[in-house]
Amino acid sequence: MEMKNKIAVVTGASGGIGSAIAKHLDNNGCKVALAARSVDILESLQKELKNPSLVVAMDVSSSESVAQGFDKILNEYNTIDILVNVAGVMPLTYLKNLHLEEWLQTIEVNVKGILRTVHGALPSMKDNKKGHIVNIASVDGKELYKGGAVYGASKAAIIALSRAMRMELSPEFNIKVTSIEPGTVDTDLRQDITDKELLEDKDYGGDEPKLDADAIARAVVYAVSEADEVNVNEILIKPTGKS
Ligand SMILES: NC(=O)c1ccc[n+]([C@@H]2O[C@H](COP(=O)([O-])OP(=O)(O)OC[C@H]3O[C@@H](n4cnc5c(N)ncnc54)[C@H](OP(=O)(O)O)[C@@H]3O)[C@@H](O)[C@H]2O)c1
Repeated sequence: MEMKNKIAVVTGASGGIGSAIAKHLDNNGCKVALAARSVDILESLQKELKNPSLVVAMDVSSSESVAQGFDKILNEYNTIDILVNVAGVMPLTYLKNLHLEEWLQTIEVNVKGILRTVHGALPSMKDNKKGHIVNIASVDGKELYKGGAVYGASKAAIIALSRAMRMELSPEFNIKVTSIEPGTVDTDLRQDITDKELLEDKDYGGDEPKLDADAIARAVVYAVSEADEVNVNEILIKPTGKS
C-alpha cells in the first residue's frame, strides 16, 4: 500500500512499541490517530509528528470508549486505511497464586480489546474494499512458559484470530491481516507484573538480549507498505542472541 496520506489508527500509542510504530507510520506519510488512555503522553507524542494527527482517548477494555474513539476518528478523517492493535498488558503470574483479576484483565485488554477495535474499523474497510489490520501478538503465543499461561493464551488467541480474519476478510473485502510476534522488547511492559514469587524467580531487569521498539515499527512498515497483491501473514522477531 502506498502509505502517503493514509489514515492509520494505532492503539497503545502511549507505550514503547505503539509510539515507535506511530512515529514510523508518520515518517512514511501516514496521518495517525493516536489512541490510548494516557492522553497527556499522546499529546507529547503528537508534537513530534510531522503530519496531521489526532489524539484519541480510548480504553480498549470498554466497548463504549472504543465506539466513541472510532466516532471521533471517522468524524475527522471519514475513513480508516490501517489499524494497528498494540494496546496490551502483561501481568505475568503463576496460576497457583490465583491473581484472578489480572487474568481477567489480560483477556479483557489483549483479546476483547482487539475485537472492539476491529468492530470499530471494519465498516470503513468493508466500504472501501481495502484495508490492513496489524495485530501485535507475541512469541509468547507460540512458546509457553511458567508464569505466562494467561498472557500466552491471550497472544495465542490473537494469532488464531488473525489467521481466521485473513480467511474471512481477505477474499471478500481485500483486507489484509498481519500478526507480528515480538520476543523481548525494551519497554515498560514488565512493570505490570505484581506476582512477588515470579519477580523473585526471574530478573526482568537483567541483561538478556532485548529488541528496540523501532525493530517492531520497521516490521509494521514493511507489512503495510508491501504491494497490494502481497499479504504478509506473520512476522516473528527475536533479539539476536536468543534462540
Ligand atoms: N515489550 C515486549 O517485550 C513485548 C513483546 C511482545 C509483544 N508485546 C506486545 O506489545 C504491545 C505493546 O507493549 P509495550 O511493550 O509497548 O508496553 P507498554 O510500553 O507498557 O505499552 C502498553 C500500551 O498499552 C496501552 N494499554 C494498556 N491497557 C490499555 C487499555 N485498557 N486501553 C487502552 N490502551 C491500553 C497503554 O496505554 P495507556 O496505559 O495510556 O492506556 C500503552 O500504550 C502489547 O500488546 C504487548 O503484549 C510486547
